[in-house]
Amino acid sequence: MNSFGHRFKFTSFGESHGKAIGCVIDGVPAGIKIDENFIQEQMNKRKPGKNKYATSRKEDDIVEILSGTFEGLSTGTPISILIYNTNQKSRDYTNVKDLFRPGHADFTYFHKYGIRDYRGGGRSSARETATRVASGAIAQLMLNEIGISIKSGICEIDGIKSKTLDFDYSLKSEIFALDKSIEEEQKNAILSAKNEHNSVGGVAFIKVKNCPVGLGEPMYFKLDAQIANAMMSINAVKAIEIGNGIQSSSLNAYENNDQIDSKGFKSNASGGILGGISNGDDINIKVYFKATPSIFIKQDTVDIYNNETICELKGRHDPCVAIRGSIVANAMVALVLADMLLLNMSSKIENVKKVYK
Ligand SMILES: Cc1cc2nc3c(=O)[nH]c(=O)nc-3n(C[C@H](O)[C@H](O)[C@H](O)COP(=O)(O)O)c2cc1C
Repeated sequence: MNSFGHRFKFTSFGESHGKAIGCVIDGVPAGIKIDENFIQEQMNKRKPGKNKYATSRKEDDIVEILSGTFEGLSTGTPISILIYNTNQKSRDYTNVKDLFRPGHADFTYFHKYGIRDYRGGGRSSARETATRVASGAIAQLMLNEIGISIKSGICEIDGIKSKTLDFDYSLKSEIFALDKSIEEEQKNAILSAKNEHNSVGGVAFIKVKNCPVGLGEPMYFKLDAQIANAMMSINAVKAIEIGNGIQSSSLNAYENNDQIDSKGFKSNASGGILGGISNGDDINIKVYFKATPSIFIKQDTVDIYNNETICELKGRHDPCVAIRGSIVANAMVALVLADMLLLNMSSKIENVKKVYK
């Protein structure tokens, strides 16, 4: 299963050390201005090798659009995108060819398929997430047409939590920090883990603004369920919260209900979603990333013959995947909303009449 979405759907292909990765995005309505600079800007935010808080693998991640646009506009036909891999070092992985890296997908891929491209994690590598960001940028261009914006940043690293959420500042920060006052502490936590040949986890915060009321398809395609599905499909994501999230189970109803007056909701515990449908308020999402599994400390493991051995890694790895992962999460939210918008067009006969009568 390498496709995501129903009406606005993308299919990705490619491996970490293959020639290229790419995607085909189907269901993009005609007439959207395809701003290639915007797409590249999103790619640049996710791309590796920019600073000491990310892997030193250097990829330009230049997007090549092969089809689906004409004179700067989408044509309603599939948009296909190619991104060449230019900086693979496959020899770094020869020592893990026959063994399973703890915390990575090697064990499960090998037992599921009986064959595994061990170079850089093959298809299980987050290299694939570049295609999500490219597809998500196309989705965002569609959302721009109706004024829906999505902002993201890092609200926690190694347990060091933001006290404020400053999305403008996060764009200037090397680690997309949402709180300048604790950024240095968060950066130091990453660097000290890196110096100890270890890695740390983190949490991304995604905020959707100006989402119209009515997106989400009950019962089995609720907006929150689809956002959770999208987030959990990202490598290394282990939990997600919407609105008050986990805290809602320890609050009483009077504390957790969002009361309503003529101007709208008086609070936003729900995170902008009620009954699986957007309520017009900001959609607030927290995405929890585990620490990068590939570290340079010796760990116990077994090889493909079940012999006990020691895993000693080489190569280049992110010391905290949440940072680049936050951009991927932002893109996946755009893809869910684009899909939901198109699905919602048929929810009322008035909408159908507007087009056909
Ligand atoms: C943006 C991003 C970058 C990542 N970079 C690395 C990396 O450099 N090294 C690594 O071992 N895992 C990395 N990961 C995580 C692995 O891909 C992931 O942990 C692995 O596929 C196992 O899947 P799971 O953690 O979801 O169970 C990254 C994840 C993301 C989202």
